[in-house]
Formats: sequence, structure tokens, C-alpha cells
Amino acid sequence: QKGGYEHFMLKEISEQPKALKDTISPRIDESGNIKLDEFPTNFDNVNKIYIIACGTAYHAGLVGKNLIEKYAKIPVSVDIASEFRYNNPFIDKNTFMIIISQSGETADTLAALRLGRKKGAKILSICNVVGSSIPRESDYCVYTWAGPEIAVASTKAYTTQVAVLAMISLYIGKLRKTISDDEYTKVLNEIKSFPQKAESVLKMESEIESISSYIVNQKDVFYIGRSIDYYVAMEGSLKLKEISYIHSEAIAAGELKHGTLALVEDGVPVIALATQNRLFDKTLSNIKEVKARGGYVIAIAKKGNKEIEKEADVVLYIPEIIDELTAPLSGILLQLLAYYAAKKKGCDIDKPRNLAKSVTVE
Ligand code: M6R
Repeated sequence: QKGGYEHFMLKEISEQPKALKDTISPRIDESGNIKLDEFPTNFDNVNKIYIIACGTAYHAGLVGKNLIEKYAKIPVSVDIASEFRYNNPFIDKNTFMIIISQSGETADTLAALRLGRKKGAKILSICNVVGSSIPRESDYCVYTWAGPEIAVASTKAYTTQVAVLAMISLYIGKLRKTISDDEYTKVLNEIKSFPQKAESVLKMESEIESISSYIVNQKDVFYIGRSIDYYVAMEGSLKLKEISYIHSEAIAAGELKHGTLALVEDGVPVIALATQNRLFDKTLSNIKEVKARGGYVIAIAKKGNKEIEKEADVVLYIPEIIDELTAPLSGILLQLLAYYAAKKKGCDIDKPRNLAKSVTVE
């Protein structure tokens, strides 16, 4: 049931504070540490992690790589499941694979899991559907407790996958002693703030709705960002094209002038994510490049960052949070932007053409 919402997608977007809370809270023990009973307790022999997934789950995996490499100091490769098997992955018994899937039934993702298992890797899955094929065939599974996701466009699965990956990165970091106690506590406190900060982003709904008017009648929309902002840009772009049928592309902001800038002309919308403090000046100069070609910049920044208002046409602010953990907040904002653009175009939001919720063919 849609519970009074016009679409499942909007209902599921709105459920994210609860989905995040349900995913995070049960995994914090009385002393304030992460407890992952579903997880191996020894990482000494692991020398490489592969994260494998499709679509939105792949985009969550990219954020996970950044977090695991930062806090657990193990090299991570993130691969699209339908590509992984056809390249030459280095898998052996010291390889750890993290398989991400909302449905737990995606054919390519399942096939990649089976390949890894055959070659001796240990497999952990992050899934939302209890008892589905992927967790059944994994050594370990950490479930996202997001509740059923009905709309084809994945929303609450994404933010909860990122939350689980963030917790995993700290958990492995603690096991391997690659993170200090202070940093562990600081980052974990930020993870605990996800539900309440997600709530603040949801309060921006009408502001986002009105900004979506600008992109409704456009032929192309570009999303730019660096590092985690780039990964969120990929997710925002996928969401928009999937439900509104507006062509969109995500570009690493630094790559703009290596080709795509040629497409930016008067009025072309560029959604610029500039939430990473350490990369702010660099992204700001990319915004200036876009403005110089007449592009219309919708920027996303952290609250309090007024400097960007001088350059962008409009700015949407997410609540203050450390750079590493912006993805769920900017992710929700872009979900709403895509939703309202599609709604204004009159699209069949919950069931976009040509797509299925669970892709069980390769
Ligand atoms: O069930 P899965 O997480 O394995 O599904 C993966 C993709 O098919 C899925 O995320 C797809 O990209 C969504 N429709 C995007 O909104």
C-alpha cells in the first residue's frame, strides 16, 4: 500500500530516516561499538576486496570503496557484475568479495558471486530481501533493514547500503587496527546522525520540487562532482534518466574539459555536487567553467557554505556532515529532484518503461 503517497517511490524516499535507523541501531552495542554478528572476526589474510553489484547498488559500492580504503586500509576494486566475469579478476583464497543487491536475485550479480566462490574467495553480501538467492549462497550476509522496496527506482536500498558499508569500513578498521579510537568514535557518531539528517533533507521537498521545474523540459542534464560527489552524481543521473527519460550523464568534474564541456551551452543544466570540503575549490573552478559557457548550475553544498552562491544559479544545502558520509544526504536530495522532474513530465514513476524491479536475466 502507498500509505497516502501518490507513488511508492515517494513513500520509499520518505521512509529513509526509519530505514536508516532500523539498519544502524541494532548494530550498535551497549558500549557504543559496532557489532556485526554476521561478519568474519579475522581479516589478517585478506589482501584484496572486490565489491560487485549492478546499477544503484554499484554506486553504493563505489562509496564503500572510498570508506574501506580510508578506514580499513585494504585495496578495493569495484566492478559492475555484468563486466566482472568477462575480464580477468584476480581471485584467490585471500580475496574477500562484497556482493551488494537489494533484491538478492540479480542474475549477473549472482553469477559473479558463484565465480568468486568457485575460485575460493570469501563472500559477504549486503542484501535487503531476507532469504533471497544471494544471501543464501554467501558465507556471510549483512541485511539492510529498509523494508520492501516496490518502486523500480531504488532509493532506501541505496542509503541503507551506504550505511552498512560505512559500518563495515569502521568494523574492519578496528579489527585491523587501522583506525584510531577517536576517529572511530567520531565517524560512528556521524553515522548515527544519518536518520535525523535525512529527515532534514526531506524537509527541503518543496524547494527541490520547485527547482525541478528547470530540468523538466531539457534534453540533457549533466551531473558533476569529485570523489564521493562523483559517485553520488552517477546515482543522481541514473535516477533521473530512469524515471523521467531525460538524458543525463555524470562526469567526474575534472574530466569536463577533456570532452563533455563541448556540450555545455546556454541554459544547459549542470548539477554540481560540491560537498567535499577538501575538493571544494577545485569543484568551484569547474562550476566557473560551466558558467563561462552559459550553463545553468544547480549546486549542492554543505550548509553554511555561502561562497558557492556567488557562482551557482541556485544552491541546495545538505546538513553538515564529514565529507566521507555525505552520500546518503545528497543522494536523497537527488532522488527528490528526479522524482519531481518525472512527476511534472507525467511519467509512470513506479514502473518506468522497459525496466523491471529485479533483473533475473543476464
Ligand atoms: O536488486 P539489485 O540491487 O541487485 O538491483 C540492481 C539494479 O538493477 C538496480 O539498482 C537498478 O539500477 C535500479 N532500478 C536503479 O534505480
